[in-house]
Amino acid sequence: MNSRFVGLLFYPAKNFWRYLESRKEDGMGKIGFIGMGNMGSAILRGLLGHGFKPEELLFTDVRESRRREISSETEVEAVCSDKECAAASSCLVLAVKPQYYPEVLGEIRSVLKPGQMVISIAPGKSVGHLKEMLGEDKRIVRAMPNTPALLGEGMTGVCYDPAEFSREEEEFIGRFFASFGRMEVVEERLMDAVVCVSGSSPAYVYMMIEAMADGGVKYGLSRSQALTMAAQAVLGSAKMVLETGKHPGELKDMVCSPGGTTIAAVSALEEQGFRSALIKAADACIERCRAL
Ligand SMILES: NC(=O)c1ccc[n+]([C@@H]2O[C@H](COP(=O)([O-])OP(=O)(O)OC[C@H]3O[C@@H](n4cnc5c(N)ncnc54)[C@H](OP(=O)(O)O)[C@@H]3O)[C@@H](O)[C@H]2O)c1
Repeated sequence: MNSRFVGLLFYPAKNFWRYLESRKEDGMGKIGFIGMGNMGSAILRGLLGHGFKPEELLFTDVRESRRREISSETEVEAVCSDKECAAASSCLVLAVKPQYYPEVLGEIRSVLKPGQMVISIAPGKSVGHLKEMLGEDKRIVRAMPNTPALLGEGMTGVCYDPAEFSREEEEFIGRFFASFGRMEVVEERLMDAVVCVSGSSPAYVYMMIEAMADGGVKYGLSRSQALTMAAQAVLGSAKMVLETGKHPGELKDMVCSPGGTTIAAVSALEEQGFRSALIKAADACIERCRAL
């Protein structure tokens, strides 16, 4: 193989490692997490599964038992306070519920370095608001992940100002989010829409799986078989959308034979306002996002 081509292949990885090394050289090379609940721990495990080493990471949580549990499981160092975590990190991940933001941001503001990178995963907290609370010079990456991140199958919408980050840092951001699923960069004005379509939607999908399984149980299947069948049907159908690139309408048409069973079911769903109910869910979700 042409050596220039090989060089090009390794260029992004080389830059990425150079970026990590430069973070170490400035003496504050860690990625720190404030909050080690569902999301914090899912992201931490994702990073560890994708080439990040325990010594590159750091976290804190208000619960001592949680700190001990996660630290002994992952070998990542836990510190006792938000301030200590923020001071020791070059990239800080805010993984507490939005209602704790005023308290946490007030606590860490004085110890953040100029230009520090802060990743926020809370709904409704804008880049402008975070800069106002932490200092205009802070570089904010706003993201909206979802709970399948716990299995490395998350979907995260991400926004940031590319003018504030180097190419190496953008590579870092890409690898950070790809370590627990897929990511899409969007404009900030679309972040509430991301909450509707992927942040909150796992809840609707679980409701759908439960209801589909109820239908199977109604006609004689065991609960466990019905749940497996419903969940696998959803997983397989999602893969068909993602991997064939076909429009969902076309895929639906492929299942509906003329005068058959599926079109009868589809017609019943339309009568009950199935699609309209999901769009109404987005309306309710966005209204709540805007109120946060
Ligand atoms: N879960 C989701 O589906 C989802 C999806 C997208 C985005 N998010 C966002 O992700 C963020 C984290 O959500 P989550 O579901 O992981 O929440 P979580 O499970 O409640 O985890 C937050 C953790 O932080 C701890 N904590 C609270 N105040 C703290 C402080 N001052 N310093 C350090 N730790 C503190 C909490 O302890 P206590 O339990 O004692 O309060 C808890 O262990 C939120 O902004 C949420 O909106 C969540």
